Amino acid sequence: MAADAVTARAPAKVNLQLSVGVRRADGYHDLATVFHAVSLYDEVSVQRGEGLTLRVEGRERDAVPVDGTNLAVRAAVLLAGKVGVPADVALTIRKAIPVAGGMAGGSADAAAALVACDALWGAGLDRRQLLRLAAELGSDVPFGLVGGTAVGLGRGERLSPVLARGAFEWVFAVAGSGLSTPAVFAEIDRLRAGRILPEPRPDERLMTALRAGNPRALGPALSNDLQPAACSLLPRISLTLAVGRNAGALGCVVSGSGPTCAFLAGDGQHAQEIASALRSGTGCRVERATGPVGGARVVDGPGR
Ligand code: C5P
Repeated sequence: MAADAVTARAPAKVNLQLSVGVRRADGYHDLATVFHAVSLYDEVSVQRGEGLTLRVEGRERDAVPVDGTNLAVRAAVLLAGKVGVPADVALTIRKAIPVAGGMAGGSADAAAALVACDALWGAGLDRRQLLRLAAELGSDVPFGLVGGTAVGLGRGERLSPVLARGAFEWVFAVAGSGLSTPAVFAEIDRLRAGRILPEPRPDERLMTALRAGNPRALGPALSNDLQPAACSLLPRISLTLAVGRNAGALGCVVSGSGPTCAFLAGDGQHAQEIASALRSGTGCRVERATGPVGGARVVDGPGR
């Protein structure tokens, strides 16, 4: 059933593992990553309109592109083309996920726009069709649809779910300025030039910790090959990681291509302590979240 207005939301992600292999001929890197969706959400509302318009709300609204490069706009245009309808839609994005922070905020917006427009136009695409469109939009967009905890292979778009027990408590320190993902991948190539790289594989120690739902085992198993590159481009990331480590976080890792840093806590009280240490010890915005959570879904309108 088509509708006049639909709102969908999609979660941020943190990579519990991000192993980066060689740069491929198409410019992407082969990855073995473990995505984990956390309870920080962007909302995308879509309304029938004349032509395509975009409005962005939220504290970082000025940092979000409002032209045709915006991933939610690209998602609406791609889906309209697939369904064969004009992309006449007024999009509103309410941003809570850090912009250019390594938490896939743009990808979440694209995933939310796909499910919202699908419901608005009554297109009824199945999951496989939506996942294919998502992979065209960006490497992290399929995971924005799926959520939970999942291994990503290829450039990150080939997903398989991971068995994870329980819920994990996270604290995020969000730096004031973002990092460009291509720049961070270029920096890791520079730092590792001349090295022979093994094929990236999911880490069994991490999988065991997730299956057991054990944050004390998960903390030391967190890893991110992009971390040295992000720290090289923005050295104060190392200081932020040290503040969280000294506050007793069970694990500390740069989220994706950074600069957001993720800290694992043992429980809610512990998360609160880490959050206050980060607030007083860094200039960062600090957010708390739990994971895993589900992927993009309609929260208002048909298809709820
Ligand atoms: O797929 P997406 O557009 O999100 O990727 C953004 C950029 O990140 C790519 O243009 C590329 O520079 C880098 N990237 C990469 N290898 C991946 C994923 C992203 O080099 N697997």
